[in-house]
Amino acid sequence: MSNSVKQTKIDQTAEGWGNCNRVRATFSKNVYTAQYANDCMDLTMGTRDIRDPNIKILDVAAGTGALSFVALDRIQNSNNSFILATDFSEKMIAYMNNVIKQEKYKNIEAKVMDGQCMSEIQDNLFNYVYSVFGAIYFPDRAKGFREFYRVLKANGKMAVTAWRVDTSFVKIFTYAFKQLVGDESLIPLKNTVLSLSDKHVFKSELEQAGFRDVEIHSVTHYMSFPTVQAFLAHWQQNPVYEDIIAFLTPARKQEFDNHILAYLAANYPDTTKIPCPCYIGVGTK
Ligand SMILES: C[S@@+](CC[C@H](N)C(=O)[O-])C[C@H]1O[C@@H](n2cnc3c(N)ncnc32)[C@H](O)[C@@H]1O
Repeated sequence: MSNSVKQTKIDQTAEGWGNCNRVRATFSKNVYTAQYANDCMDLTMGTRDIRDPNIKILDVAAGTGALSFVALDRIQNSNNSFILATDFSEKMIAYMNNVIKQEKYKNIEAKVMDGQCMSEIQDNLFNYVYSVFGAIYFPDRAKGFREFYRVLKANGKMAVTAWRVDTSFVKIFTYAFKQLVGDESLIPLKNTVLSLSDKHVFKSELEQAGFRDVEIHSVTHYMSFPTVQAFLAHWQQNPVYEDIIAFLTPARKQEFDNHILAYLAANYPDTTKIPCPCYIGVGTK
């Protein structure tokens, strides 16, 4: 991370994402974000079975590999193809390397790297670059997007996902926050979770990085929890929730959780199907 880049939020730090309990609680090979990862690949590769040889795929801010492991299935019939998964959290990458070792996966590597500064990757190397709910957390996203562009081959394609303001967990947290603080605009999501929630800004940022044929797609998938308490327990392990809680006095944290539970019960009676719409920005070098 360059010294000039100021990290202000817990979810903009490797430590924030890297707590081992969080890694275990939040991510797995079958994490729900894999659904969005599939969309990213469908929109850029157009096929689920890659047969062309020597295809190189970069997964930036890979977490524990939601996209990378799905991509691995897609290159099974492609000779010499390769996936590089990167994340700035050592814990995330250690988790991935463990899976790779245990499953004896080939053609995939996981490395610690900040997505805004990937200097160890040469120019024009990858056919596809992705970031599933990763680049939205970059304090210097312009720098990150220029890096995505730099490491892509000519005519290579990229896809990035970003949460929309009407995604359920944002609505739930915003409601609870408003009950306690009054002014919902103070909720600390603007520069992270919601940083690309305006699709015109999203398109313009990708074009400024040099991408052409930029399109912003909208897709919806669902988070699924057995109970409202399970929803809360999931988010309590996440640095996004911690950023909001850090804004509240300790005495109000329990109240915040109570509002979350009440809003969920009233608005999402089926906790196995909580809708989470997002944008997917796609572009070509
Ligand atoms: C919400 S998780 C998404 C993980 C994964 N892409 C998925 O879809 O499941 C956000 C990830 O972004 C990573 N991240 C955030 N900022 C980063 C940065 N500047 N460089 C690399 N990784 C970053 C975090 O460590 C975390 O693993």
